Amino acid sequence: METTPFQFANNTPLSLSPNFILPEENRPILSEVFSSASIPTVDLNNHDIDDLASKISQACEKYGFFQIINHGVPKELCQRVLAVVTEFFQLPPEERAQFLTTDHSKLVKVFNYYQKVEGQGKVLMWGETFTHPWHPTEDFTHFLPKNPPQYRLLSLMSQGLGLEKDCLKRKLGERPAIYTQANYYPPCPDPELTMGLPAHNDISALVVLLQMEGVSGLQVVIDGKWVPVEPVPDAFVVNIADQMQVLSNGRYKSVLHRAVTNNRLARLSLPMFYAPNNDAVIGPIEDLIDEVHPPMYQNYSYKEYMDEFYRQEGARRRVKEAFELRH
Ligand code: OGA
Ligand code: NI
Repeated sequence: METTPFQFANNTPLSLSPNFILPEENRPILSEVFSSASIPTVDLNNHDIDDLASKISQACEKYGFFQIINHGVPKELCQRVLAVVTEFFQLPPEERAQFLTTDHSKLVKVFNYYQKVEGQGKVLMWGETFTHPWHPTEDFTHFLPKNPPQYRLLSLMSQGLGLEKDCLKRKLGERPAIYTQANYYPPCPDPELTMGLPAHNDISALVVLLQMEGVSGLQVVIDGKWVPVEPVPDAFVVNIADQMQVLSNGRYKSVLHRAVTNNRLARLSLPMFYAPNNDAVIGPIEDLIDEVHPPMYQNYSYKEYMDEFYRQEGARRRVKEAFELRH
C-alpha cells in the first residue's frame, strides 16, 4: 500500500484535507464529553499493601483505567523523553519518511492510523505514530527487588484478584513483548471533523502511558459517556488491555478509549505496551472459575489473537468478542 509522510510537519500551514474528514456518525461530539467524571489516581507511596492492592483492583474492575503518582520514575527523565520524541516529530517529513511503513513485522516504524469507511475508503487520523521495542528487559527484571511490592504493578493486580503474587506475570509467559509507541497529534484546524485515534481497546495485556502536561486529548468511556483523562502532573496513566480482561475472566476491564485533537496545541503521548509472547496461551485463570463464574473466554495463543486483530483491520475492532464463550 502506498503511504506518504504526514503532511503537516512543523511550520507547514495546517489544513484539513478531505482524506481526514470522518463521516458524521464517526465524528467526536465534543460538546457531549462529560468532564465532571474522572478515573481514579492511586498514590503508590502507600505502605499498606493490602489497601494499595485493593485500590488498584477496584480501579481495574470499575474503570479499567487509573493514574499512578509517586511511581519513582524521575520527572526529569520523563521530560527529557517527551522532549526528544517531540523533536523527532518535528523533523522534516522526508527524514521521518524513511521509517514509514505499513508492514506490521517491521520493528521500528512510523505510521498513520486510519479508519475504513464504507464508500470513502481510508480516512486518516490526525496524528502520527512512531514505535519500536525496548531493549530486552529479561536481562535485568529478575534482579529487581521483590519488595516493596510497588515495584511490581502486576503483583498488586494479582493480589487484588486473590491470586498468588506472581500469577499474572507467570500467565503472561516468558519473554513478554515490551514496546513503546509515541503518538503525536499536531493542532488540528477542526477537531470536530476528525480524530487523533479512533475508539479502540488495547490488545496487549497492560499499558502504561506517559502524556505531556497541559494538553488534554485522551478520553475513556465511563458509564456510557466519553470522559477526559486529564494529565495529572508526574503521573502515568495505566490501563487494562484485552489479555488481562481475559486472564481475569472479565473482572478487570479493557475499556474503550480514543484520542481527540484540539486546535491550539500539539499533544504527545507515550504508551508502553506489555504483551505476551506469540506462543503464550491465554485464557481465564482457573482459580477465578467456579460454578458462579464460568469461563467467559476460550483459551488461545496470542498469535491467534493477533491474527484475528489483523483480520479485522480498519474496522472498529472487536477482537476479544471473537474469543468469547457463551453459556
Ligand atoms: C494508544 C492510545 C492514547 C493517547 O496508543 O493505544 O490509546 O492519548 N493512545 O495517545
Ligand atoms: Ni489505546
